[in-house]
Amino acid sequence: MRGNIRVMLPEDTINERINQVAHEISSDYAGKELHLVCILKGGVFFTCELAKRLTVPVSMDFMAVSSYGAGTKSSGVVKITKDLDEPLEGKDVLIVEDIIDSGRTLHYLMEVLKQRHPRSLRLCALLDKPERREKKEVQVAYTCFTIPDEFVVGYGLDYDQKYRNLPYIGVVE
Ligand code: IMP
Ligand code: MG
Repeated sequence: MRGNIRVMLPEDTINERINQVAHEISSDYAGKELHLVCILKGGVFFTCELAKRLTVPVSMDFMAVSSYGAGTKSSGVVKITKDLDEPLEGKDVLIVEDIIDSGRTLHYLMEVLKQRHPRSLRLCALLDKPERREKKEVQVAYTCFTIPDEFVVGYGLDYDQKYRNLPYIGVVE
């Protein structure tokens, strides 16, 4: 199953970059508490690795959305399949997502979450594919890696629910 995966970003490279980004976030939010909103399922590995490295007080909540059917094509429909447990009102919220592709999912989510009156609302993504962006207004405050337009798996990202557990980012060939 792993034979046909080409490694794009090895584990060490990812972890080093998460260290840097966590450092940046910790200094930007110094003196504040940060409420991380992990977007399931793809964001879960990144959220954990990031959270472990943050030095500001952190709380965490989880949300699941579906924007893709089985396979690699967007269905264009975004649906909240699991909502947050906690209100966002007055909190400094950082959404943590695996990848920003067309930007449709996050564009929709940001609009929904803004209506819950967080004190601040920003976005952090492990990967960004800017070439694919349809929703230009989606601002990613923290990006670990900008990647070319290839379908990637691992570190939380799946192809038909498989490969999420790979400790690196790879391309299925
Ligand atoms: P967007 O709405 O097009 O930005 O898509 C965002 C979601 O699509 C991500 O959260 C992923 O779940 C999925 N996705 C987009 N590109 C990839 C990829 O290269 N590999 C795996 N999942 C992807
Ligand atoms: Mg996702």
